[in-house]
Amino acid sequence: MKSLISWVSVRQFLFIFLYLLVVLGIAPFLHLQSQFHPQGQRIPSPSDPRQPSPPEQGMWTVNSLGRLGNQMGEYATLYALAKMNGRQAYILPEMHQQLAPLFRITLPVVPGDMVQSIPWKDYELHDWMSEEYRHIEGKYLTGYPCSWTFYHHLRQEILQEFSFHDHVKEEANQYLAGLRGQRRNVTYVGIHVRRGDYVQVMAEHWKGVVADKAYLEKAMGYFRAKYQEPVFVVTSNGMEWCQENIDASRGDVYFSGDGKESSPGRDFALLVHCNHTIMTIGTFGIWAGYLAGGETIYLANYTLPDSPFLKIFKPEAAFLPEWIGINADLSPLQSGTTG
Ligand SMILES: *[C@@H]1O[C@H](CO)[C@@H](O)[C@H](O)[C@H]1NC(C)=O
Ligand SMILES: *[C@@H]1O[C@H](CO)[C@@H](O)[C@H](O)[C@H]1NC(C)=O
Ligand SMILES: *[C@@H]1O[C@H](CO)[C@@H](O)[C@H](O)[C@H]1NC(C)=O
Repeated sequence: MKSLISWVSVRQFLFIFLYLLVVLGIAPFLHLQSQFHPQGQRIPSPSDPRQPSPPEQGMWTVNSLGRLGNQMGEYATLYALAKMNGRQAYILPEMHQQLAPLFRITLPVVPGDMVQSIPWKDYELHDWMSEEYRHIEGKYLTGYPCSWTFYHHLRQEILQEFSFHDHVKEEANQYLAGLRGQRRNVTYVGIHVRRGDYVQVMAEHWKGVVADKAYLEKAMGYFRAKYQEPVFVVTSNGMEWCQENIDASRGDVYFSGDGKESSPGRDFALLVHCNHTIMTIGTFGIWAGYLAGGETIYLANYTLPDSPFLKIFKPEAAFLPEWIGINADLSPLQSGTTG
């Protein structure tokens, strides 16, 4: 899998990599270009012997892969690592297109017509911070990031980068205010239930499960016990399942997401404007919890101990230490794998 010699092996790699993307929600090819001059006067070839590529002239970017949660992880990781290494970070036009309509991001964009002509060099990252990433030299850059371990020391800056435009904020606040009804002392809890492709991929590929009904009951029970008047705002890419499996009979549950994966911004803004978060799995929920900044409950230990998922995913690098994990029920999996 390491040497991508033929087109076929490249395709295979992409195929598997997409699975990683889907499951981990992390899409990490960091690209480093050590000889590019930002002004664009000259783009020397990597083999130009007269240009020994001084590292401080490097221009960094990161691949724009996956949907919103992935893109945010890539952006924040690039932001933090470039800063740590004293490089200027640029984002690709595709990433700008996905993030700029929602957030007041500030990283400059590589002009579209330049992207192709820059001889990017890949440097691979895994999904947690490592000491060697403080000093990334020349050579190749690529990897896998959506972990607070890269950027939590810059939390205020990251929150600033991902602050919403006013109209997005207003729409979310207006919606939440409309749910309050007669309640005087409301506490909003955003729930993100990730389903879709994960339902298959977790079971078949990673010896894992997605959140079930009992998990959501427990997590909601925690907030019902703690706050006087909780209001639960459910967003999901599997809303039908949610409506069948989340008990709304107490009148405190609202199924609010528009359920469109192609326009996740509204759902995301709703979650972030809630006071607390119940996530299931995936980077969308991780980012919602991180930005909402209240209490976050997550599904813990959702794969079997021998899952290959645990080689590329470190739970302690994905979930903040103060977040509350509720163990997944793995019994459906265990009974299913006895054969
Ligand atoms: C509002 O609710 C919180 C807990 O949900 C409670 O601690 C607080 O005292 C309440 N405030 C009022 C004015 O009732
Ligand atoms: C809870 O969230 C609402 C809506 O964003 C906000 O107006 C309110 O100030 C928050 N309450 C607390 C205690 O943070
Ligand atoms: C998940 O499993 C690990 C290892 O068995 C355990 O230490 C941890 O407490 C579990 N997490 C939760 C939330 O129970």
